[in-house]
Amino acid sequence: MEQKRFKALVVREDEEHQFHRSVEERTVSELVPGEVLIRVYFSSLNYKDVLSAHGNRGVTKNYPHTPGIDAAGVVAASTTEQFQEGDEVICMGYDLGMNTPGGFAEYITVPGDWVLSKPPGISLYETMQIGTAGFTAAQCVERLLAYGVRPDQGPSLVTGATGGVGSTAVALLTQLGFQVTAVTGKESEHAFLQELGAVDILTRKQAIGRAAAALLRERWAGVVDTVGGDVLAGAVKATQYSGVVACCGNAASGDLPLTVYPFILRGISLVGIDSARCPMGRREEIWQELAGNWRLSMLDGLTTRIVLDQLDQYIGDMLAGKTKGRIVVDLEGAA
Ligand SMILES: NC(=O)c1ccc[n+]([C@@H]2O[C@H](COP(=O)([O-])OP(=O)(O)OC[C@H]3O[C@@H](n4cnc5c(N)ncnc54)[C@H](OP(=O)(O)O)[C@@H]3O)[C@@H](O)[C@H]2O)c1
Repeated sequence: MEQKRFKALVVREDEEHQFHRSVEERTVSELVPGEVLIRVYFSSLNYKDVLSAHGNRGVTKNYPHTPGIDAAGVVAASTTEQFQEGDEVICMGYDLGMNTPGGFAEYITVPGDWVLSKPPGISLYETMQIGTAGFTAAQCVERLLAYGVRPDQGPSLVTGATGGVGSTAVALLTQLGFQVTAVTGKESEHAFLQELGAVDILTRKQAIGRAAAALLRERWAGVVDTVGGDVLAGAVKATQYSGVVACCGNAASGDLPLTVYPFILRGISLVGIDSARCPMGRREEIWQELAGNWRLSMLDGLTTRIVLDQLDQYIGDMLAGKTKGRIVVDLEGAA
């Protein structure tokens, strides 16, 4: 197994500090030693992978590097009792794909406590249709429900709606009976959002509203925000009394231009969501829901399935804001 050759996307930095990506052959012995060796069948493309693939040192410090914060596959070897050869597993987040070689490869090695047994009721492919983005959407929805947001309280808002997190949030909220308003910058993708269940669609400008206003007309019972900045501020200002805003992304900006008035006059809650360091117990609970009560019927409608050789093109497209929904990387072919 040590000498087993496999394919991986490798990002290299040249002398002019430009970053280049190509599919290369590697051997298992070149991987950082870890407790669990996983034969990766599927990975998925997330925004953080795009940053890693373009040399963002906040995500990845050293190159050459293989990105990929998501992986689903079968245990090929394990030195922990927790996992046996042949187990179907998921590995997402922690340091995978950041400074640990990631899921854009046919093999990864990881510590056992990063690995989750695939729950019954969902396939390995489906777990990567969801991936970190979909899992994050599910965490946002779970928080809205936990804070008491219900479908009969009025519409809920999803920003960055055609993105990986946004599209899954639109589909999941719709499936749970919520009336979803989607915010998108892509005029060409209104039909896509309507198919996922969005009943109303706003431009980013409409979602921002009057930027100088401290409060806007109360509209949203709940919000899933993936973009931050003025759009998130607009969403907070238009959230109903006691409403809840789940904040998980910064696709537009890391800033949040707000006053305290939505909080102290309307009692709204702004809840932060992180998936990378999400504790294993909570991961298991969310995955149980995704494989059970929340099993998404619209996953195929929001997925593009690609192979390793196409990944570089999709990484560029995601950076340029041209992708929609979820992108699954199929590595199942014999290694
Ligand atoms: N907290 C966590 O653990 C966690 C986990 C996963 C992702 N994230 C973050 O969540 C965000 C979304 O991730 P993703 O995987 O869904 O990325 P994605 O597929 O690239 O989607 C991002 C979406 O944001 C919108 N957008 C892009 N640039 C924008 C701008 N300048 N202004 C307003 N909207 C803009 C676009 O949607 P429209 O064209 O439809 O407007 C785009 O499709 C990222 O910031 C990512 O880092 C966080």
